[in-house]
Order: sequence, then C-alpha cells, then structure tokens
Amino acid sequence: MKDKIEKLLAEIEAIKVANAEELNNIRIKYLSKKGEINALMADFRNVAADQKKEIGMLLNNLKNKAQEKINMLKEQFDAQDNVDDDIDLTRTAFPVELGARHPLSVVKNEIISIFSRLGFSIAEGPEIEDDWHVFSSLNFAEDHPARDMQDTFFIQSNPDIVLRTHTSSVQTRVMEKNTPPIRIICPGRVYRNEVISARAHCFFHQVEGLYIDKGVSFADLRQVLLFFAKEMFGSDTKIRLRPSYFPFTEPSAEMDISCDICGGKGCQLCKGTGWVEILGCGMVDPNVLENCGIDSKVYSGYALGMGIERIANLKYKIRDLRMFSENDMRFLKEFEAAN
Ligand code: DAH
Repeated sequence: MKDKIEKLLAEIEAIKVANAEELNNIRIKYLSKKGEINALMADFRNVAADQKKEIGMLLNNLKNKAQEKINMLKEQFDAQDNVDDDIDLTRTAFPVELGARHPLSVVKNEIISIFSRLGFSIAEGPEIEDDWHVFSSLNFAEDHPARDMQDTFFIQSNPDIVLRTHTSSVQTRVMEKNTPPIRIICPGRVYRNEVISARAHCFFHQVEGLYIDKGVSFADLRQVLLFFAKEMFGSDTKIRLRPSYFPFTEPSAEMDISCDICGGKGCQLCKGTGWVEILGCGMVDPNVLENCGIDSKVYSGYALGMGIERIANLKYKIRDLRMFSENDMRFLKEFEAAN
C-alpha cells in the first residue's frame, strides 16, 4: 500500500498536460469516484490496525497533493484562455470620445479666417518680452500708467523683461524685420496683473492687426473694420468709431458694434446705449514706424487690437470670463457644434 501511494505521488508530481481536455482526463484518472486514489481509500479498510495511522496520513497527503496540482494546472489554463480573449485582433477598437475645439480657439480661427480673406497673414511673437517691444517702441512714455507694477508682470531679477500685456508687441517685431507692404494679424495670449473675477483675468487673448504700405488711410481701416464686424456678427451689424487714445496710434479710435441683443434699442448688455465696444484701432503713429526703421514720410498704416474673450462673450453671450479657463466639460461641450 505504501509503495503504491509513493508511486502515485511521484506520478502526480510529474504530471504534464497540453490542454484543458488532457487535464480533465487526468482528474478523472486520479480524483473521480472511480479514480485511483478512491480505489486506495477503499482498500484502506484492509490495512493492519497498527499501520492505519501512518497509511491514513500518507493517503490524505496524496489526495491533497493531487487536488493542488490539478487546481494549479487549471488556473494556468484559465489564465491563458482569458489572454486569448483579450487579444482578438479582429475586434473593432473601443470608441474613443472625440474632443472639440475650445471656444476661444473657435473664435480665434474665425477671426483669422475673416482677415485671411482680406490678404492678412499670421505673425507670432514671444509671450515673455522685453520692455522695448511691449512699451518703448510703441511710444509709451516712461511714466505711462500701463507700465505700472499694478498692471504688468515683471520678472523680478530683470525689470526689462515682462509678460507681454498686449499683442501689439508683435507689430514692432515684424516691422523691425520686414519692409512694407506688411499685412499681418497676430493672435496670442497676454498677461495682466488683475484680480480674477467674472470680468477680468490675469491672462487672456488678443488678436492684433497691422497694415503698412504707401498711402494707407483711415478710410481703409474703417472699411476693413466694417467687413470684419459684418462677417463676425452678421450682415445687419453697424459700426461706430469713437475718438480715443493709444500711445502707438494717432489718431486713435475705439470701435462699437450695434447691440445684437436689443437691435440697438438699449438693453442690459449695451447698458441702454444700443452699442457695445469691441476693439481699439488707429493710424500707426509715425514715431512707431521710425522706431522700427520704416520711413514715415513714405509709408503709413493702421493697427487694430481686440480681445478674443470679448468677441466670444458677445457672440455666445457668456457672462463669466472664468468659464474659459475652468475646463468644465459641461461648458466646453456646448461648443462642439461650433467646431
Ligand atoms: N494694445 C491695445 C490694448 O491692449 C489694443 C489696441 C488698441 C491695439 C489700438 C491696437 C490699436 O493695435 O491700434 O488695449
């Protein structure tokens, strides 16, 4: 009996099977009711009483070992089965949810598209700029309030380096390196040291426009602005230019469009005036041209600058600026259709 047990134990330890079917046959051979181990169990009653304890232990051990071995092999096959399921190369891919463009990108692209139809090309410049390109070259006096620490983010170790407060800095970068005619728009992010609220943020986006050539007049500027306003806000849109002041343009103006909520009658958005302000513009100051090496007796030009958030607010009636930078999917998903 003892020899038989040892022989079976050795057999079981050496078991190797190629597939689940073979494993089942092995299980039947050793562990089923009519299997070899049960046959030994049945023989147990013939064992002499003084050997019963020892043989009993050996028999139990044999049964446990057989069970363990078969369980282990079964787990291996199960795991292999799962792997096979996972790499079904013919299966279609999991659906990946498509993202959508950010509303500010949607509006930026629309602005770019309108101006590119008029022959403007895109120019870009650095967000970390020097004082010359952001202020000095643009005719800002030394004591101009825009240079104030309140508005501008300076680099502490070098006050000559700032985060650009407007995209007008790209104007001078382009004028310094190119000879007219120059016809560019410059979209980009700008920074100001503002307390974040529904109406102000420490970063926002602008698009700058610049056209320099021989004989460019204020009438050209007005016509481009009217075309832009009609394309952006609808063909019924009217524009109005109010005199204003910017250091880098002379004369300077601010442009309003007729309020498309009340149709000009007066409402909360236009504060009862029927007009809403959308951009600043003017004829490039001769000093700015000269600062960039362009002969102001030969060339003239206009510039304009607008906030992308402002345009988006008006177009989509968004009341809180912070929505643009909070990445709330419920808000962003509303613009899927606009993509
Ligand atoms: N840079 C101005 C700002 O940030 C906007 C602006 C006004 C740009 C008039 C221009 C311009 O080019 O002509 O407020």
